[in-house]
Amino acid sequence: MINKLIIDMRQHVNPLSKNFKDIERIPSLSEMFGNSTFNLHLDIGCAAGEFLFDLALENTNWNYIGIEIRERLVKNAKIKVQEREIKNLYFIFGNANNILNDVQSKFIFENLKSISFNFPDPWFKKKHYKRRIIQPDFLNIISNALQIGSLIFIKTDVKELFEYMDSTISSNLNFQTIDKKDFNYYESFNPNLIKTNREKYAIVNQLNIYEKIYIKI
Ligand SMILES: C[S@@+](CC[C@H](N)C(=O)[O-])C[C@H]1O[C@@H](n2cnc3c(N)ncnc32)[C@H](O)[C@@H]1O
Repeated sequence: MINKLIIDMRQHVNPLSKNFKDIERIPSLSEMFGNSTFNLHLDIGCAAGEFLFDLALENTNWNYIGIEIRERLVKNAKIKVQEREIKNLYFIFGNANNILNDVQSKFIFENLKSISFNFPDPWFKKKHYKRRIIQPDFLNIISNALQIGSLIFIKTDVKELFEYMDSTISSNLNFQTIDKKDFNYYESFNPNLIKTNREKYAIVNQLNIYEKIYIKI
């Protein structure tokens, strides 16, 4: 109990901990959403989900799923979804790597148009690189499951992490970079360019923001 509390309160959670081996039941898309045929976007490491609440309320013809490893944040977000009767937003608690690798989540990819990794935990020490969310094996899982034409968005204010994520994704031959200049945001999951919490912080503090878009080919 005390251990669980510590996991919930701490800012950084070790995703490789055995606490995250078991994953929660993932309901079908029609249980999650009012209209399960809408385009679906997945935000990995969504924290308290403010970004997704903003998106879901503005773009009512998209469905959104957030995955977050801090359980308390997911519990609170689920309560907020219920209280506000939001029908196009769902949160899943756990390590995104284990969740997307689990056979019970495979159906998510059927409607999935895009995935975002916004300001993932950097894990600066080399011995902790394996805790970073983007790993070659994880990319293989995603690339095998994603439909052709689906998109991955990455964003961070840590240059070294950006270079690591970019080289990991670019080494997977199923993904190609899309030039931001040629990208039509109006047709994406985020037509109004809503910012995440960390992004707002980075802008206020004039930090560089590194970002890239990839398409599954
Ligand atoms: C720095 S925060 C960024 C939050 C938000 N995306 C933003 O841009 O403001 C990174 C988030 O990713 C979550 N996280 C880290 N590793 C994860 C994993 N393996 N699976 C799911 N969530 C993870 C952390 O708990 C944290 O909430």
